[in-house]
Amino acid sequence: MVAQQAITIRELKPEDLKAVLSIQYKCFKDPYPLSLLKRLHLMHPDGFLVADIGGIVVGYLIGVIRWTNIGHILAIAVDPAFRRQHIGTMLISNIIDRFREKGVKVVRLEARKSNIGAQLFYKKLGFLERGEMPYYYEDGESAIAMELNLE
Ligand SMILES: CC(C)(COP(=O)(O)OP(=O)(O)OC[C@H]1O[C@@H](n2cnc3c(N)ncnc32)[C@H](O)[C@@H]1OP(=O)(O)O)[C@@H](O)C(=O)NCCC(=O)NCCS
Repeated sequence: MVAQQAITIRELKPEDLKAVLSIQYKCFKDPYPLSLLKRLHLMHPDGFLVADIGGIVVGYLIGVIRWTNIGHILAIAVDPAFRRQHIGTMLISNIIDRFREKGVKVVRLEARKSNIGAQLFYKKLGFLERGEMPYYYEDGESAIAMELNLE
């Protein structure tokens, strides 16, 4: 589906959680439970972002700051019907601006080794591979750790 209306990136409101849950179920085999999403929102209200088209949530990102200067992207997903319209790029750009304002020097994330599409997406945005983390996921799959230097 092609987005005809403007895309807004904004902070999540509690009433968006159902839509985020539904996107998660379409995108991941190990979605976060609602209780964890609620907790993350409570702890990081300005790092839990959604992409909104005319009041419909079509993507989300959860970014947190660790040790004062490391930004960690815990999750990002765009509804399959809205992919390849640079919505993922807008979500990442928005969190990077927020991270920079708070003095973050480096942004880290992990992607499943088999998730080549996500790795290409991150590489397009300038992330570099830091290495492989064996057995990172519950099903035993490795993660590819990636990093973007903001300095
Ligand atoms: C990864 C994801 C968030 C990207 O969102 P998106 O809105 O489709 O990405 P964008 O449109 O901003 O893509 C920007 C660029 O990244 C690259 N890219 C994005 N998805 C890609 C894919 N599946 N394969 C190859 N390159 C890809 C392209 O270069 C693209 O630019 P182009 O469309 O002009 O060629 C989305 O595919 C998704 O939700 N995937 C499922 C969940 C997931 O894997 N999350 C990451 C977990 S680590």
